[in-house]
Amino acid sequence: MQSFKAYLPDETATAALGAALARALQPGLVIYLHGDLGAGKTALTRALIQAAGHTGTVKSPTYTLSEPYRVTVDGEPVNVIHYDLYRMSSPEEFLDAGFREDFDGKNVCIVEWPEKGEPVLPPPDVRVLLEVRGHGREVELKALSQPGLLCLNRLAYSPS
Ligand SMILES: Nc1ncnc2c1ncn2[C@@H]1O[C@H](COP(=O)(O)OP(=O)(O)O)[C@@H](O)[C@H]1O
Ligand SMILES: [Mg+2]
Repeated sequence: MQSFKAYLPDETATAALGAALARALQPGLVIYLHGDLGAGKTALTRALIQAAGHTGTVKSPTYTLSEPYRVTVDGEPVNVIHYDLYRMSSPEEFLDAGFREDFDGKNVCIVEWPEKGEPVLPPPDVRVLLEVRGHGREVELKALSQPGLLCLNRLAYSPS
C-alpha cells in the first residue's frame, strides 16, 4: 500500500487514526503533516503520542518549535519529537537549534508545517495530508520510503 485515504467524520475518528499510527510506527520514522491551520495535525499527533504511552498533555510546540516525548514504539523506548515549524523564520533557525541531529534513525520525528523547514529538513518516510471537508476531515497518507511503506502496510485503521 503506497497511499491510504479516509474520511474522518469527527475528532474521535482522528484520534483512532492517531492510535492506529502509533501501533504501526517503527523507531526512526519521519512523518510530515500537511494541512491548513485547524486541519487536525496537532490533534492527530496528540492521539498518536498518547496512544504510544504518554500520559500527560500534548500541546502544539508553537513557540518552542519542538517538544520531545518518551514513549514506546514497536516495544522499544523511543523519543517521539513533535515539531511545529509554523513560526520558524528561516531554515537556519532549524540548524542552529540542532534539530537536524534529532533525525538520527532512532527518534520518531513528526513535523507540522514542514514547508517552513525546506530545504534543511530531512526527507519524510510518510506524508499525511489533512483537509477540512464538511464537518470532518479528509486524510491521505503516502509512503515515500521502504520504512514508510512498512508503516502503512501495518496500519490497521478501519473507518467506523
Ligand atoms: N475529523 C475531525 N472532524 C472534525 N473536527 C476535527 C476532526 N479532527 C480534529 N478536529 C478538530 O479540528 C481542530 C484541529 O485543530 P488542530 O489539531 O490544532 O489543527 P492543526 O494542528 O492542523 O492546526 C480541533 O478543534 C479538533 O477538535
Ligand atoms: Mg498544529
